[in-house]
Amino acid sequence: MIYPIVMYGDAVLRKRAADIKVGTDLTELVRDMYETMHAAHGIGLAAPQIGKSIRLFVVDGTTLDDEPTLTDFKKVFVNAVMLDEEGKEWDFEEGCLSIPNVREDVWRHEKIRIKYYDENWNLHEEEFDGMKARIIQHEYDHIEGKLFIDYLTSLKKRMIKGKLTNISKGIVDTDYRILAPLKR
Ligand code: NI
Repeated sequence: MIYPIVMYGDAVLRKRAADIKVGTDLTELVRDMYETMHAAHGIGLAAPQIGKSIRLFVVDGTTLDDEPTLTDFKKVFVNAVMLDEEGKEWDFEEGCLSIPNVREDVWRHEKIRIKYYDENWNLHEEEFDGMKARIIQHEYDHIEGKLFIDYLTSLKKRMIKGKLTNISKGIVDTDYRILAPLKR
């Protein structure tokens, strides 16, 4: 099932998401999350973006032809806990399915260490760097109620304010189904 993607302005994107009970069958939800993400041509999707305030996100970079480091990067992160972020900060232009047509440079640490369950409730503690780390940091922020635009300068925030207002009203062009909080 393909869910509509929740747009900027919805309170669910600002909540710290809750842990999922260990052992819960996630088969269908994970399948739906991948299906929803692929339909929107995303490389990451967090449960709050489909209106569910739970600590689950999926990533899939295997379809990006121009990023050879991501060919094996398809994973499910459940109840993730960020243990460490370190290394030089680097900037890269990010976007978000919940904030369509807005792309801005974001600075993030180069390396992370994260603890998480996979979809079969196996516990992992793993290090990631570069683009993988960045994608995980972006999605992890979602389950903490944080968005990439939070990192922008106040000037940049002012510059995109009108766009954000329109997005929350559903006045935005996307090729996927959206759910806008202020749409009348
Ligand atoms: Ni996002």
